[in-house]
Amino acid sequence: MSFVNGKCRQQLHLEPPMGWLNDPNGLSFFGGYYHVYFQYSPDNADGSGKKCWGHYRSCDMISWEFTGTVLFPDTPDDKDGVYSGSAVVYDDTLHIFYTGNVKEEGEHDYITSGRGANVIHVTTKDGVTMSQKKTVLRNSDYPDFCSCHVRDPKVWREGGKWHMVLGARTLLNKGCVLFYTSDDLDKWEYMGTDSVPDFGYMWECPDMFTVGGHRYLSVSPQGLEHYETKNQNAFQSGYFLSDSGLTDFTEWDMGFDFYAPQTFEAPDGRRIIIGWFGIGDSAYTNPTTALGYQHCLTIPREVTADEKGRLMQNPVRELLELRKESRHLSNGETAEITLPSELTADVHGSFKISFDGKLDLVWDGKIFELRFTDNKYGSGRTTRKAVLDKCSDISIIADTSSLEIYLDGGRTVFGTRFYPDNERVTVSAEGISAEIFSLRGMEVKYLGE
Ligand code: FRU
Repeated sequence: MSFVNGKCRQQLHLEPPMGWLNDPNGLSFFGGYYHVYFQYSPDNADGSGKKCWGHYRSCDMISWEFTGTVLFPDTPDDKDGVYSGSAVVYDDTLHIFYTGNVKEEGEHDYITSGRGANVIHVTTKDGVTMSQKKTVLRNSDYPDFCSCHVRDPKVWREGGKWHMVLGARTLLNKGCVLFYTSDDLDKWEYMGTDSVPDFGYMWECPDMFTVGGHRYLSVSPQGLEHYETKNQNAFQSGYFLSDSGLTDFTEWDMGFDFYAPQTFEAPDGRRIIIGWFGIGDSAYTNPTTALGYQHCLTIPREVTADEKGRLMQNPVRELLELRKESRHLSNGETAEITLPSELTADVHGSFKISFDGKLDLVWDGKIFELRFTDNKYGSGRTTRKAVLDKCSDISIIADTSSLEIYLDGGRTVFGTRFYPDNERVTVSAEGISAEIFSLRGMEVKYLGE
């Protein structure tokens, strides 16, 4: 099987050419391209390799070029991993900030000692060739209440200053964020911290942004309690409304495979989110690992706010370009479709949509449930649920081995990997009738390694 065009390859999602992918990094629009960097270990698919940054770029978010690995752990300050970070455009230059991970030799618990977490600044004029690395913050610069888990700088411009938010774990095992500001992207001043009582031991990958006049803090907390319809995965990712204090934590995605998302602003002002379409420490697996690669990113989703400040996510409109023929699926009918496909429907009451009779999507008017009835199909995934007491519509992006399900205008989203035998699957509908579009795959060119 060709590793680039093999049957299991996703057609609408960015995957690593070989090896392992996790968080999206450095999302930005610069020099005529959307840039999507990502946590990348090219030489091994199980996540145990040293983290680098891989790089995709695109003019339109539907045809992409992989330019190769652009940041390597090659200095004393990032010798054990070029961890997650972000990018801002200033002065015709893309400024990248990431965490340089350092594991010290010796006897350490690697929580209170033994780990260096450096904020490193690099610049690029073309998105590919990087400047020298400069460390702008190191452990001694963080407040005394922090453990050595401080990482994932997200930088933005606001009110005439540069701002940075970092995720952290305190010495008392509380997740929190740290805020810094700068006038020159070089000297950073600590401004304060924020947190919520009893909300996990570590907050990773923070992000701060405004949508529809509301302020939001997105974080990926670790150590939350699990419930039947909430926090069902090993770790969570969600957003707080942050207009006054941190309130109303809402998970970005209720499915099996979502973590560490990042947002950025497109040139036309849209706020766009991309997540890691995967998660660490899960009981379920991905059979592509045996083929030498694992994980992908979610499709870019536009983020808007409803009148109550609830965020809605929907596939960016660029994906409409990929639609080919359409057909109608009536209530009670079963149809064979070819992946990738898209399904959209208005919802008027309870419904069930089933893929090959092995993955059921069920809404009973109160709870939405995504349920695998076949273990091979789900590769260990079982069931995920969310409270959904109203639902006006559903739309599903079905790729070769994933579903992204957008409910009620995108207020609730479920993403899952699934592993059908081939790209022909049956869809059956009860209580609902739908439009199904077959989709053209994205073009992906591999320019580097
Ligand atoms: C989240 C994360 C980040 C870290 C990166 C390392 O998945 O743990 O906190 O920077 O992955 O790959």
